[in-house]
Amino acid sequence: MQTQMERSDLTENEKMEAFLAKIDRGGKIEADDWMPDDYRNQLIKLISMHGISEIMGALPEKEWVPKAPTLRRKLAIMAKVQDEMGHGQLLLRVAEDLLAPLGKTREDLMNDLFAKRLKFHNVFHMEAPTWADAGVIGWLVDGAAIITQSMSLDTSYAPYARALHRICAEEKFHAQHGESIVLELAEGTEEQRQMLQEAITRWWPSLLMFFGPPENGTITSNQSANMRYKIRTQTNEELRQVFLKKYLPRIFHLGFTVPDETIHFDEEKDQWVYQQPDWEQFKQIVKGNGPRSAHRLNLRETSYEETKWVRDAIMSYGRHVG
Ligand SMILES: [Fe+2]
Ligand SMILES: [Fe+2]
Repeated sequence: MQTQMERSDLTENEKMEAFLAKIDRGGKIEADDWMPDDYRNQLIKLISMHGISEIMGALPEKEWVPKAPTLRRKLAIMAKVQDEMGHGQLLLRVAEDLLAPLGKTREDLMNDLFAKRLKFHNVFHMEAPTWADAGVIGWLVDGAAIITQSMSLDTSYAPYARALHRICAEEKFHAQHGESIVLELAEGTEEQRQMLQEAITRWWPSLLMFFGPPENGTITSNQSANMRYKIRTQTNEELRQVFLKKYLPRIFHLGFTVPDETIHFDEEKDQWVYQQPDWEQFKQIVKGNGPRSAHRLNLRETSYEETKWVRDAIMSYGRHVG
C-alpha cells in the first residue's frame, strides 16, 4: 500500500506537508521513503561528518596503543580504537544510502576528506602527547560525544537512530575506560597528577569548542532546519551546559582546575559562565589547520591507498557472483 507521501499524484508541496506531519507525529523516515532534498542534504552533512570523525578520532588514541603502560591498558585502548573504526563503518553505511540517489559514493566522501572539503571534529586535530591525554580523551571527549549523540537517539531518520543506539552503548564503555585511567593518575604520584592537570589544561579550549559556537539568541538556518526536521533537539550552548554541569564538579572534586579563573556557576540563570575559547582558531582547526591535521590526514590517505586492493578484490568478487 502506498503511503500518502509516495502517491505520485501529490504535488511537491503536498508531499512536504505529509512529510512534516509524519515527523511531527513522531514518525520515522527510512532510507527509501520520500524526503525533501534539504532534509537529505542536512543528514548527509551531519552523518558523514560524524562517521569521518569516528575514523579520524581513532588516530590520536591509536598513537598510544604501542605505548600504553600495562598489557591491560593496551588491550582496552586497542579495543576502543577498533570500536571507533566500527562506528565510522556503521555511519558511512548510513551516509552511503543517502548519497546513492545523488550519484555519490563512500569513496567520494573519503576523497572529500583528503581534499579538506569534508570536515571532522576539532578535537581530533589536536595532539595527545602524554598517557594522561589518552585518559582525558576517553573521559571527556567521549563524555562530550555521548551528550551530543544521546540528543539524536530519537532522531526522525530511523537508520541514524539505529546506528546511534549501538554506538552510544559502546561510547559509555569508552567514557568508563577514560575515567578509569584518569582516576588512577589522580590517585597516583605528584608527577602523575601534574601530567593529568596539564592534559586537562591542554584539552579545555578544545572541549569547549567541541559543541560549536554559542548561538547567543541567533539560531543559524542549518540549526533551525535540523530542529524542524527533528534531526536534533538542542542548541550548541544547551549541550555545552549539560557537559559543564556534569564534568566541572568532577574535575574540581578531584582537585584539578581548568584554565579559566573567571569560571563560575550562575545560580539564577542555572548555567556555567565561562571564558569563550578563540572561535577564529576553531574555524582554522576544522578547516584542517590544527596542530596534527596534516599528519593524521596523511596517515589516513596513505592507509586508504594501501588498502585499495582489498576494496577492489571485494568489489570484483561482488560483480562475479552478482
Ligand atoms: Fe565512537
Ligand atoms: Fe568513543
